[in-house]
Amino acid sequence: MHIDLNRRLFLGLSVAGAATAALAACSNTPVPAAGHPARVMPTDPVVAVYEARRPFTGTTITQPLNAGTFAATVAGKTLTTWGYNGALVAPAIRARAGDFLTVHLSNGLKDPTAIHWHGLALRNDQDGVQHVTQEPIAAGDGFTYGFRLPHPGTYWYHSHMDMQRERALYGALIVEDPKESLSYNKDWVIVLDDWMDGITGTPDDVLKELEQGMSMGGGMDHRPMGSSPTPSSGSMGMGSGMKHMLMGSRSDFLGGDAGDVSYPFHLFNGQTPEQSEILPAKAGDIIRLRIINAAGDTAYRVGIPGQRLTLTHADGFPVQHQDVDAVVLGMGERIDALLTVREGFTPVMALPEGKPGQALGFVSTGTGKKPLPAVLPDILDGTVVDGGQLQADPTVSLKDRTPDRTHELRLTGGMAKYDWGINGNRFDINKPFEHPFEVKAGERVEVKFTNDTDMWHPMHLHGHTFQVRAGGARKDTVIVRPKQSVTVVFDADNPGQWLVHCHNAYHAERGMMALFSYIK
Ligand code: C2O
Ligand code: CU
Repeated sequence: MHIDLNRRLFLGLSVAGAATAALAACSNTPVPAAGHPARVMPTDPVVAVYEARRPFTGTTITQPLNAGTFAATVAGKTLTTWGYNGALVAPAIRARAGDFLTVHLSNGLKDPTAIHWHGLALRNDQDGVQHVTQEPIAAGDGFTYGFRLPHPGTYWYHSHMDMQRERALYGALIVEDPKESLSYNKDWVIVLDDWMDGITGTPDDVLKELEQGMSMGGGMDHRPMGSSPTPSSGSMGMGSGMKHMLMGSRSDFLGGDAGDVSYPFHLFNGQTPEQSEILPAKAGDIIRLRIINAAGDTAYRVGIPGQRLTLTHADGFPVQHQDVDAVVLGMGERIDALLTVREGFTPVMALPEGKPGQALGFVSTGTGKKPLPAVLPDILDGTVVDGGQLQADPTVSLKDRTPDRTHELRLTGGMAKYDWGINGNRFDINKPFEHPFEVKAGERVEVKFTNDTDMWHPMHLHGHTFQVRAGGARKDTVIVRPKQSVTVVFDADNPGQWLVHCHNAYHAERGMMALFSYIK
């Protein structure tokens, strides 16, 4: 029933236009219906018109991707998970701004899938969101994505289906800048992930447990100080029937509750600290770190004990350089930073915010002794920022303009019922047009994220890079702390249907998601 409705929507009809479906089905032309605006659907010819306006170098980059089940080793343990091309670390796709990227995805999974290209201002029909921009790709089928890459930067790709990203269906996408102004000797793509699949259960098990809310945990609707876990139970707080839910996870930086799920491991390019990746370099080299947080429910605080990083980009776009001791990345966020290599082993540490454990890799000049992970600090302090607190480089700052429309997105719900939503609505991907936020091409749109919940949310918009506050960083994912508001603006310059959602995999799946819908 829902699927049928969506098929009609693909043909370019608004919900109320379904009655005229028979007439319009052959034309692919949206039919305005009384009381409902006509939407600019992914199949609308205007999508191709905008694509043709994007710069094109004439170069095509090709990358085949095979989604499938495979055996991986995590911390010496063999497990079965789902990923691309049979590896925990999927191919890092590299291209240059203006190139055309073509990816043939073959679906070797038993489930349908699709690939979303996170952060890219790409043509809407290639955005990879099931039931919104394409039909899911059935098991055994394939799909060829093809689109121009308009902006340089550090991006990534991942499945948007169900809990698939919580397995290993994600990879890095690096768009190099033909006019690169930074100078560095090499770059290092660092993909961070919280890992439980095949160790403590599956992401679907976690979702099932969380969906029951905190009632299973003994009705702890709120977490008064006195009821927080005792030190002897650690921060895992596993009550009866609670295997995955994390109680008492706290981060002052994130304004309180840091996460919902406990993870046995945190991976740095697919490795636990004992097997950590080592990047060879020379003393004095400048390394560009391209850090990507691919986690489901964990923010990472990234830094190097005793050494500062120079932050240069947030979510792919340049920022005014800032030297910090550490930077915090919410799920979905990326940060580029420069590091000057010192003699010996330099640990690049990613500490899960408010959770036990660590992820790390080393830069090594080939001298000295690799420190054991256990002796490394478990705190990164000093000047600590997140990408949303940086300032845009003037070259990418949006011009001052009065917004043509403002949408308020109140983040709602909580742990008690695990009923996350936007403006009290729980998104259903099978009925994506129920509570859309409408925009028109050419408008300056202001979006006010107001967090009514007790927890932070990394809010992500597809297909656009907004600007945080006046003069703030250009980003596609921004941390919104509990009881706080973050206002962003963007230029509606990419017609189509675009999701906006929390990048916590569990919050999104439970409904903290909505649609920005271009209307005619
Ligand atoms: Cu990283 Cu809706 O996506
Ligand atoms: Cu959230």
